[in-house]
Amino acid sequence: MADTATDQAFVEFERVQKSYDGENLVVKDLNLSMPKGEFLTMLGPSGSGKTTCLMMLAGFETATHGDIRLGGVSINNIPPHKRGIGMVFQNYALFPHMTVAENLSFPLEVRKIGKSEREEKVMRALGMVQMQDFAGRRPAQLSGGQQQRIALSRALVFEPELVLMDEPLGALDKQLRETLQFEITNLAHELGITTVYVTHDQTEALTMSDRVAVFDDGRIQQLAPPDTLYEEPQNSFVAQFIGENNTLMGVVEQIKGDTCEVKLDDGSIIDAKPINVTETGQRTRVSIRPERVEIDKGRLNPDAHTLKAEVLEFIYMGDIFRTRLRVAGSDDFVIKTRNAPDQIRLKPGAKIDIGWMPHDCRALDA
Ligand SMILES: Nc1ncnc2c1ncn2[C@@H]1O[C@H](COP(=O)(O)OP(=O)(O)OP(=O)(O)O)[C@@H](O)[C@H]1O
Ligand SMILES: [Mg+2]
Repeated sequence: MADTATDQAFVEFERVQKSYDGENLVVKDLNLSMPKGEFLTMLGPSGSGKTTCLMMLAGFETATHGDIRLGGVSINNIPPHKRGIGMVFQNYALFPHMTVAENLSFPLEVRKIGKSEREEKVMRALGMVQMQDFAGRRPAQLSGGQQQRIALSRALVFEPELVLMDEPLGALDKQLRETLQFEITNLAHELGITTVYVTHDQTEALTMSDRVAVFDDGRIQQLAPPDTLYEEPQNSFVAQFIGENNTLMGVVEQIKGDTCEVKLDDGSIIDAKPINVTETGQRTRVSIRPERVEIDKGRLNPDAHTLKAEVLEFIYMGDIFRTRLRVAGSDDFVIKTRNAPDQIRLKPGAKIDIGWMPHDCRALDA
């Protein structure tokens, strides 16, 4: 039986705008609808409005225009302590004079929960992050990763329906970050918590999230599951922001249904898929992933266009080969091939032909 509660929007932003100075909009037109239990990441460059959106959802900032709803109710009408929102920030923000157990107990005291129930909930929340043995320590006696685990369990201790995390792993080293990424997503899914997570780190966004909202310039440029975002970027910003990408500039020569021909600036013709170009003569930036470039003509359509390329650099990376080519006037066209037994190792100076399936090359805004 379908669970209708999970199909309904739990967090909603509708036409939200925000200005701090009454002049410039830092959030321009934000529309977002999240079902219960979703793990959604806001990803984008510095200053694109991610923290501002989180602060409005938490109720620390008010929207200049538009409506933010939680469980169908406009957030302005819900007092902060009744919002049931847990928060985790980059710099932990634990109370330094309190022990770990006292830090966790605090949000429960605020909610007037009795002593024995508090103790039970505190130990359970510490258990979730494997920190039961640290209950009596103060934050200064913990490592960065341990402090962040405590911050996480403090956000979860009162069993919030919604957790907001703003770059919670930003201050940690790579290995610890990866461990905690895994713990956070597991916990969120196990507990059925709806999560809005903010990061600049695209790998973190892709690996942790059910959906990713790519922010730029106060707007969501694309909102999609990680694989769609990587494979089907809807505009040049998203194509260049997510993953490695080759781009070439040209003009749309002709469009035939879901394929088009693009004349590159050096005069050569290539096949592409029109994404946000609509007419011939339009300037376009085509985008092709390094792993989708074919160097074996036998694997292309017989009538596919190919480009002449010169090998500039071959880098052996173990699992893959990364080869840099000169293509259509660009010196940083990269292809990636899997280190398979029959794969050729291209030598600098070699002249080759490259091509691709038309749907792997996206004709985007210039
Ligand atoms: N309290 C404030 N008063 C005035 N301007 C602010 C305030 N907070 C943020 N801004 C401005 O709003 C814009 C968006 O800031 P925001 O903090 O939301 O970006 P962000 O996407 O979280 O960036 P970062 O990745 O650097 O954390 C920025 O131009 C910033 O300078
Ligand atoms: Mg921020």
